[in-house]
Amino acid sequence: MFARTVAVVGTGYVGLTTGACLASLGHRVVCADIDEDKVAALSRGEITIREPGLADLVAEGVAAGRLSFVVGAAQALKELEGEGKPVEVLFLCVPTPMGVGGVADLSAVEAVVEEVRDAMPPGCVVVNKSTVPVGTADRTAELLARPDVQVASNPEFLREGSAVHDFLHPDRIVVGSNSSQDAAERVAALYARLGAPTVLTDAASAEMIKYAANCFLAMKLSYVNALAELCERVDADVSDVTEGMGYDRRIGQAFLSPGPGWGGSCLPKDTHALLQVADSADFEFRLVRASIDTNTRQFSRMVDKVRLAVTGSRNGSLTRVRLALFGLTFKAGTDDLRDSPALGVAALLRQAGADLVAYDPGVAVDSPAARTLDSHLLTLVGDPYEAAAGAEAVVVLTEWPEFRALDWARVAESTTGGTVVDTRNLLDPAVIRRAGLSWTGVGRPTTVAAAR
Ligand code: UDX
Repeated sequence: MFARTVAVVGTGYVGLTTGACLASLGHRVVCADIDEDKVAALSRGEITIREPGLADLVAEGVAAGRLSFVVGAAQALKELEGEGKPVEVLFLCVPTPMGVGGVADLSAVEAVVEEVRDAMPPGCVVVNKSTVPVGTADRTAELLARPDVQVASNPEFLREGSAVHDFLHPDRIVVGSNSSQDAAERVAALYARLGAPTVLTDAASAEMIKYAANCFLAMKLSYVNALAELCERVDADVSDVTEGMGYDRRIGQAFLSPGPGWGGSCLPKDTHALLQVADSADFEFRLVRASIDTNTRQFSRMVDKVRLAVTGSRNGSLTRVRLALFGLTFKAGTDDLRDSPALGVAALLRQAGADLVAYDPGVAVDSPAARTLDSHLLTLVGDPYEAAAGAEAVVVLTEWPEFRALDWARVAESTTGGTVVDTRNLLDPAVIRRAGLSWTGVGRPTTVAAAR
């Protein structure tokens, strides 16, 4: 006996994780997508998303008959109907890209609503799981025009690289609905086995919680990045400063590492979207604006660091200076290059005339991700020592742990300039120094190696 019947529309990152995890909790889940090839591949257990544990969950769900994949949302409803247990909860997990002027493009949500409107059984709940502007639940209810079908918002808080873990060990479950408390409770009940604190609220508050959380995280990082700059100016060490701050339970140690800026598929999109929400409510959200501006500035700050480290001067020229970039993805453990700060920094270095050779453990030379890279921007190679060969400096842009384990003496032999700019404070400066290289981090004195 299946606990609940669920349709998940959209098998992207959020949809596939949601479908596979809900099936693992015992629900009967049909996932729908408009891409026939993708549905065929998923039905064979082939997944292209790089996410620890996800392939196993999909395989287990399919083998147990709890998880299946179909083409089109209407077909998902038919499949469950045919099994004699019509859909109880339908999740919308379709893309909501940032459109013109930072307004989220809701055309995929609208298309699905149109498709399922007449096929939804009375009493079921339609749930927005994609990050959508405040007010979308109401808009969905309007489009649906089915007073007997309720609408709820159930934002996800999954991080790339640990999405399955995050789904199954959530800090909280948030469900908002304007239709009825009962609709929100039924959605929350899907997660009952996880035992997480649950916030039941109205739709606008649930939608706002997602933006509020992501923008707070972005603001925290911009604060730390700005703090790192100040530490450099007053000879303080940001690593010690953030450790000291983080023991305060109101602040916490997480999300306090400075870097080349924050990026990825969520934080940039959500900060702009919240500004848009604020704008349309005639509210000037200066903190969020400042967080975005600080982040943009962080890219050029990294370029200034490279310039100073390589040429010894703030005005030195990087024209035809060969640089090895270690890491291109927006964070370690992913092959995702979307809105990667590493690429933001790379673009500015290239603009300054540098020749860039990059290596990233998550992006193989012939991979689909690699094909999205502009060959005029950089040359991608499959080996860190090859990237370092003949380079005047190594610039670490993503915090891949494997970079710590490199043979840095070998890197030192390959480079011509002997400089490492570590924008993630990833490496042990003492190890780098011992290898005969100079080390520059973010917010840390360059003499830190001697002091430790
Ligand atoms: C984020 C949110 O964490 C998640 O809750 C939401 O659902 C989606 O957006 P994700 O995009 O996977 O998740 O990335 P995250 O791990 O949060 O990192 C975001 C960016 O901040 C990355 O560029 C990362 O490198 C950077 N970062 C993170 C830092 O620079 N320092 C830190 O201490 C932490």
